[in-house]
Amino acid sequence: MSATNTQREKMYRAYCEYFDTAEKKRRWNPFTDVPWEKHDPSLNTEEDAVCLETFCGVELYVPDYTSNAFNMTRNLFGAAWFEASWGYEESKHALVYREYLIRSGLRTEEQYAEFESQVLGKVWQLPFETRRRMNCYGALQEAATYLIYAVQRDKAKLNGNELLEKVYFLVSRDEAAHRGFYQKILQFELDEDREGALADLAHVVFNFHMPGIGLIPEYDDRLKVDGVGITPQYFLQNAVFPMLKVLGTSRTELLKYYRRSQAEEAAKGAKEVVPVESVGAEPSLAIS
Ligand SMILES: [Fe+2]
Ligand SMILES: [Fe+2]
Repeated sequence: MSATNTQREKMYRAYCEYFDTAEKKRRWNPFTDVPWEKHDPSLNTEEDAVCLETFCGVELYVPDYTSNAFNMTRNLFGAAWFEASWGYEESKHALVYREYLIRSGLRTEEQYAEFESQVLGKVWQLPFETRRRMNCYGALQEAATYLIYAVQRDKAKLNGNELLEKVYFLVSRDEAAHRGFYQKILQFELDEDREGALADLAHVVFNFHMPGIGLIPEYDDRLKVDGVGITPQYFLQNAVFPMLKVLGTSRTELLKYYRRSQAEEAAKGAKEVVPVESVGAEPSLAIS
């Protein structure tokens, strides 16, 4: 699906605005903008370690995320240049988490190296095959990631861990900006082809998984640790529904598109219809 000239122009402008704001207000250095001198070992817990390590693992797939994103967007300036900026920003997230784990002593160099080699021993694959669907995925995934880190930021503040609070503040602020960009592009897609874009959004919402599933070692066990994930209900209430509202749609309309696409698939004989009742009244979100 190729973009129209109007879309190209809008995306270029959106990227320029994104980049300009990031340069002026959001650039940060993991070595000098984080108050490492405030590290207090007595405030660290193994729960913090598992969270940081798991988040670091997910952020470590930057090479796979960006190579796939570039392949998908390379002929579209606004989208491709955004992915370059996005990849740079994501690369700092893995870096700052790694630094925290090692500097705090929560993990030794050897433990970290073993973890990293296990993570990078697997390859992240695109969960959806088109740019528009991946844009929907980006908006949802960044929103979920923001919520997860924001919970950690608030928890660190409550515990008086100023250093960790700053780490999560800086990273979550980036994630919020990423969600904002993907959501803006999604709005452009809706302006261009509302039916098609809503059908894609419905498909992605109902098939959404966080990127760490099947990749991060012992992921299911990690999810049992408080703070590693959020519940589907929390995600729906705080990310999906607000996003649908901003985009001028609703869960009812999304369900309609989901049912329609399921029926179309079945008519094509591609696969059996999965009655929407079987996934309940809400999308089946495996993120907690
Ligand atoms: Fe990130
Ligand atoms: Fe992000």
